[in-house]
Amino acid sequence: MHSCVVGLQWGDEAKGKIVDLLGGDHDIVVRFNGGANAGHTVVVEGKAYKLSLLPTGLVRGGVTAVIGNGVVIYPPRMAEEVEGLERGGLKVLDRLKVSDRAHVILPYHQEEERLREAAASLADRIGTTGRGIGPCYADKVGRHLAVRVADLLDVDRLASRLGEIVPRKNAMLASMDPSARRFSVDELVAEYRAHGDYLRPLATDTVEYLHAQAAQGKRILFEAAQGSLLDIDHGSYPFVTSSNSTIAGLTSGSGFPARSLGRVIGVVKAYTTRVGGGPFPTELDDGPEGIGERIRRIGREYGTVTGRPRRCGWFDAVATRTTARVNGVNSVALMLLDVLSGLDELKIATSYREGDRRRDWFPADAATLAKCLPSYESMPGWREDITGCRKWNDLPANARAYVRRISAIMGVPIHHVSVGPDRAQTLLVE
Ligand code: GDP
Ligand code: IMO
Ligand code: MG
Repeated sequence: MHSCVVGLQWGDEAKGKIVDLLGGDHDIVVRFNGGANAGHTVVVEGKAYKLSLLPTGLVRGGVTAVIGNGVVIYPPRMAEEVEGLERGGLKVLDRLKVSDRAHVILPYHQEEERLREAAASLADRIGTTGRGIGPCYADKVGRHLAVRVADLLDVDRLASRLGEIVPRKNAMLASMDPSARRFSVDELVAEYRAHGDYLRPLATDTVEYLHAQAAQGKRILFEAAQGSLLDIDHGSYPFVTSSNSTIAGLTSGSGFPARSLGRVIGVVKAYTTRVGGGPFPTELDDGPEGIGERIRRIGREYGTVTGRPRRCGWFDAVATRTTARVNGVNSVALMLLDVLSGLDELKIATSYREGDRRRDWFPADAATLAKCLPSYESMPGWREDITGCRKWNDLPANARAYVRRISAIMGVPIHHVSVGPDRAQTLLVE
């Protein structure tokens, strides 16, 4: 059976932990969207692994990892990540395949992103990760200025592409800010030629590869990066990332048909977080002694990629009900339940109020979302530390009731509950 793991909130739902957990049942793991804007931490027997551009499923020895055509690759960072994992004792290079169709991030993408964010007012700033993701996808869709992995493999083609592109990028950057960085064609050709040499043994027609492996009975696990509320089409536009982080990205970003999937697992935190700008209806902006800060402290809610504090708030069932539908989720994993221990009362947003109008569905754009006020339902909390629970019935009755209520409001069964970062701290719902 092929599976997909997808985040149903604004990213960092602990998808990495679920991917690692399911990795044991699959032969191949695939990333299909985003790039090194993602940051996943997986903990196995006390040892933490951090992944960004590489598929998290790699932490399981024996699986093959595929970076699909929908991913945007910054080659120096990829090499750094590979080396870091290999130094940590994980063999990576001999089981990694990179799509020859994947688009390549160049340093002018990062410069463009820096200038655009700096020029935006505080309210309009997206709060991106600074990795050059948005400008690279813009070039992909624009077609004229794009560079793909296949272009790096042939030095004449690379030199001719960059000879055309770089002067145009320099002119565009200078028009944004006269003090913008300027890039040299020769230096970039030399640098990216070397990246091409590194990528040559990894470059693969991954679409053909995945179909051939599936025909031989191999089981494939697809891992979406980011969260569905950051999806370019279905998220809180324009405060989103530049790819389809819902299951919509799987077909375009890997060339594999979504109808072949047996399981689509939606991952949610037991509360909500968001890093970067944009409206967040259930945000707890309640000061240094408040519940928002308590969740941040106990849940260690700081971005893996940028170290920024994540904004924290109550569970939003309007948002997750919507994203569960958009993704066709048939199983939910509820993560970080332990972080809520010790609170007297827990709140779940069951609908929004926009003026006189009730909304049960997540709105199309950020301006409407900013006008939405959450309507809450309250539930009693629990006092016990639950990080040692290993079975569903070990959980306090109020914790089980909270999980059941979220499942009922979302209208999807919850099969996994996580009570700590380690692979072992996972319960199957009975
Ligand atoms: P991802 O981007 O969706 O893979 O999530 P991240 O790795 O960015 O963030 C999730 C964080 O929560 C990581 O540091 C995990 O180690 C940690 N984590 C995962 N599950 C749990 C859990 O059940 N409880 C706690 N306290 N931490 C968890
Ligand atoms: P994982 O895979 C959380 C956010 C950024 C910013 C917006 C756009 O770890 O869940 P970008 O650099 O993509 O153009 O930034 O998206 N963002 C994430 N937030 N988790 C992520 O990935 C994210 N990837 C991007 O903070 O608000
Ligand atoms: Mg993350």
